[in-house]
Formats: sequence, structure tokens, C-alpha cells
Amino acid sequence: MDIMKNDSNIPIVGFGTLNLNGKDGIEAIINAIKLGYRHIDTAQTYNTEYEVGKAVRYCIDNNIVQRKDLFITSKIDPHRPIGYNEAINAVNSSLEIMGLDYLDLYLIHYPNIAPGSEWKKLNRLTYEGLEECVNNKKLKNIGVSNFMTHHLDELLKTAKIHPLVNQIHLSPIWQQKELVDYCNKKNIICCAWSPRIRPFDIVENILGRKVYGEIEDLNNIILNEISKKYDKSSTQITIKWCIQKGFVPIVKTSDKQRMVENLNVFDFMLDNQDIKKLDSLNSRPVFPDIAPDISYTIWAYQQKLQEKTIDKKWMLKFLGLQILTYMRKSEFESNYCLFGFIPLIKTKTDKNKTKYYLFNFIPILKKVHKNDQKYKYYLFNLIQLFTLKIKKETINTGIELVPNYLK
Ligand SMILES: NC(=O)c1ccc[n+]([C@@H]2O[C@H](COP(=O)([O-])OP(=O)(O)OC[C@H]3O[C@@H](n4cnc5c(N)ncnc54)[C@H](OP(=O)(O)O)[C@@H]3O)[C@@H](O)[C@H]2O)c1
Repeated sequence: MDIMKNDSNIPIVGFGTLNLNGKDGIEAIINAIKLGYRHIDTAQTYNTEYEVGKAVRYCIDNNIVQRKDLFITSKIDPHRPIGYNEAINAVNSSLEIMGLDYLDLYLIHYPNIAPGSEWKKLNRLTYEGLEECVNNKKLKNIGVSNFMTHHLDELLKTAKIHPLVNQIHLSPIWQQKELVDYCNKKNIICCAWSPRIRPFDIVENILGRKVYGEIEDLNNIILNEISKKYDKSSTQITIKWCIQKGFVPIVKTSDKQRMVENLNVFDFMLDNQDIKKLDSLNSRPVFPDIAPDISYTIWAYQQKLQEKTIDKKWMLKFLGLQILTYMRKSEFESNYCLFGFIPLIKTKTDKNKTKYYLFNFIPILKKVHKNDQKYKYYLFNLIQLFTLKIKKETINTGIELVPNYLK
């Protein structure tokens, strides 16, 4: 087996292109290919299909690589209605934008979550559209992304072409064991997006400053210890952990040195003890990405807001109820939902409105978590996001706002 490929012929370390837009993006992707990356990941929603296509064609035209040696993935935009025709149109559009004859892999970026059993039908139809594109030789492989076990269960009932991968958020601190076990059992490869233990992008964006929490702490204590032992960076250790778990990590960087670094992971093996230590990091990101279901709902409501077919107060109540329901289900999902809520607020409000939303949201949290630690924890995170302009004393919660680890 080629060390750079797994049993399914997928180059083991993928190159992510989220945020690699424009001229700089094209240059970064060309550099990545020159430096040895053969697996490039894009999506309709990243708006980097053009950049990927341009870079790939440049590299082929200049004899840097042959098309057959590249493995290029794109994904159908989940924020549009999806179905059979839409899937075929999406593939045609991706190919046109990229200027390529075929893609190696095409994914349903997020599962559809239309109400009732409609989501099952829509996921099935979308997948059928992608199957048609495989039959027409526009795609070599198809798969899914961010599918949970219930979405996969449903899809596998009707799929004629087995999904090659499920691309999901995976890292030592976010291991999604149940989902990974499921995929392993069903012979679906897990691609790991955001495999680096990453800082709080959302917080940074909103507040313009960094707030560190458990992620960085873990980074410092355990990853650093293992990094030192192998003389590798924490990113290399994380990438290697993914590979040894059988995942296909997709890492993005715009920096040439880091491109080299992230690919330089084939000259060492983590021993079992260190794998176990990394396994023990499994917790949850303080700001996990949005769970597929809630993400779709949020999008749907954003649309409605834009169309002015619902009003904000009503939407807030509805979402609050939904979050409540999720909170009762499990901590995992509630966390997802809580933070899934944030982009909605972020995109739709100015600072004063934010204040209004925050005050509306607190009673929901209080009701669910009463006065226990979890409530404080959630509230703290929420407040971290929104309070810079809202003075501590104005929120009379009677709890300590700053956990010890941040003092
Ligand atoms: N399917 C999905 O829903 C989904 C969701 C998110 C992402 N993805 C895919 O997965 C790819 C990777 O995810 P991601 O971009 O969110 O996260 P990532 O690759 O884990 O991390 C990217 C960040 O880490 C930095 N970085 C990369 N290598 C580094 C190194 N060796 N040392 C220090 N910093 C380093 C990059 O900064 P610099 O660029 O400045 O180096 C960038 O800020 C995406 O690009 C996308 O293709 C898929």
C-alpha cells in the first residue's frame, strides 16, 4: 500500500480549502499540490471550487501532477433545497466552475432535516441524483458529511452505491465514538474535518479577542508532552492520531511551511500508550460546530427572517423550545444546540438586539439547568460571547461568571 493512500486509494492527508478564496487561495492550493498533497477538499458553500479548479488545471498543464493522481472532493450546498434534480445540477455546476471532467468524491454536505419523514425522502433523492452522476461517470465516488447514525441508517436502506465516506468533525477532543463505530461497522471511512484542536474561532470573530478554555489547556498539557516525546508539533501528533485511528484527516493551511509540516507525519508511529493518552482527551470543544439538524433549522429561520415571513420574537421562542427539547436529550446535543443558536443571533442582530436575545435566553437556560454547574457553564459561554458591552452587574444571575480556569 502506498504510504500516502489508504486501502480505498484515498490519499491519507487531505488538504482543506475553507477560506482559501481568491488569488491567494489559488496560490496556496498550487503550493499544496507542489508540496505533495493529492487530496483536495472543497464544497459549494466554501466558494473555493473555482480556486481548486484553477489550481488543479494549472498543475496539470505544467506537468506538476496528473489528474489521475489527484483525489478531489466537493459537496452539495445543503442550504439550498436538495433532491434528485438539484443533486445532478449541483454536480454539473461544480464541474463547470472547476473546469474538470469528473470529481473523485462528492458528498451531501449536511443531512436534510425537513419535518416528519420528508428528510428521509430528500436525502434519498439527493443521493439518487449523485448515484446517477456516478453512472454517468461524472463522479468516481459518493458519500456524505455530518450524517449522524440515524441519517446513515435511513440512507443505507436505499443506497445502491455504498457511501465511501462520512466527513465529520473529529479530533482527539471530539471523537464521536458512537458514530465512528457505526461507520466502521458499515465500512464507511471517516474523514476528519477540523482535526486540529482549534481555538475559538467564533469567539475571536465576535469579540475580536481570544478566550482560552479547556481546548488550550489540553493542548498545553497533554499534546505538548507527546509532541516533545516524538519531536513533532501538536498538529502533527493530532494528524497522526487520526491516521492511526483509520481516519482521513483534512487539514487546511495557507502557510507553505505548515503544509510541509502537516504532511510530514509518515516517519513515526504513536505508541499505544500515547494513543490512549490522546484518547483520554475526549471531551467536547467548548464551541463545537453546529449539529446538522440545528444548523439546517437555523438556516431555514434565517431565510424566513429575510423573507419577513416570521418575526424575531416568535422565532426566538420557537428556537428556545427546540433547544430545550435537545437539552433534555443529552448534554452532547444540548451543547451543539446552544452554540448552534449563536450564529443566528450573530447574523441577525446589532448589539442592542443581542442584549435583548441574551436576556430572553437566560430564563430558558435557568429553567433547564436550575442552579447547577452546567447552567453556569453554558451561561458563562454565552455571556463570553455577548457581554463585552453588557456590564456584569446588569445581569443579575447571582452566579460567578468566570470559571477558575479563566481567571
Ligand atoms: N464537512 C464539513 O462540514 C466541514 C466543516 C469544516 C471544515 N471542513 C473541511 O475540513 C478542512 C479543515 O478544517 P478547518 O479548516 O476548519 O480546520 P483545521 O484544518 O483543523 O485548522 C485550520 C486552522 O489551523 C491552522 N493550521 C493549520 N496547520 C497548522 C499548523 N501546522 N500549525 C499551526 N496552525 C496550523 C490554519 O491556519 P493557517 O492557514 O494560517 O496556517 C487554520 O487557521 C476545511 O478546510 C474544509 O475543507 C469540512
